[in-house]
Amino acid sequence: MPQIPSISDPVLGRGRVPKIWQREISSVLISETRLRKRVHELAEEITRDHADSRLVVVSLLSGSAVFMADLIRRIPLPIELDFMAASSYGMGTVPREISFTKDLKLSIKGRNVLLLDDIIDSGHTLWETRRQLRTLHPRRISTCVLLDKPAQRERRIQADYSGFTIPDLFVVGYGMDHAERYRNLPFIGLLHPSQFLEAR
Ligand code: IMP
Ligand code: MG
Repeated sequence: MPQIPSISDPVLGRGRVPKIWQREISSVLISETRLRKRVHELAEEITRDHADSRLVVVSLLSGSAVFMADLIRRIPLPIELDFMAASSYGMGTVPREISFTKDLKLSIKGRNVLLLDDIIDSGHTLWETRRQLRTLHPRRISTCVLLDKPAQRERRIQADYSGFTIPDLFVVGYGMDHAERYRNLPFIGLLHPSQFLEAR
């Protein structure tokens, strides 16, 4: 298993934030170049492990959409694509409840599935989604996340493929949002604390 890159706390000023975002984003955690390189590596790994196999890629909306789009274009295998959407309720120490607001359109019975999400944090989303997919009797489910935040894990689950391990920070960009904004940033960044307050 190749080493998963680990990102340490960003030093302010390192990885310059483009001018148009400077009011809202305090620093770049993972640059566009670094993202591209790592997504290509993940795609190579997945391709190698699934050679001669047909894959159903299940992308969790909306956070994994940008990652998915870059990743699948680097996997030269027969792929079918579908989406699910999950939402969670409950915070802090209350166990979170996950419900699905969009189900699959394709049948995954007997198929190899690659489940994609943007980030694994507590682990509930990936855990519950995988459990839901298992009820549909796929042949095998592999999981892939771009980011892993292991600090607050509440479920014993690890993705089979993981882009970067990051500290317990709230990140936005490259598909990930805060109050539905910032998904279109081409890099992964940290918000100015003022933006947390403004969005409430
Ligand atoms: P988990 O269920 O706690 O593992 O959380 C997974 C979901 O929480 C992801 O699909 C994200 O949508 C969201 N999430 C967790 N951390 C962050 C973050 O730092 N930025 C944006 N979304 C996050
Ligand atoms: Mg999500």
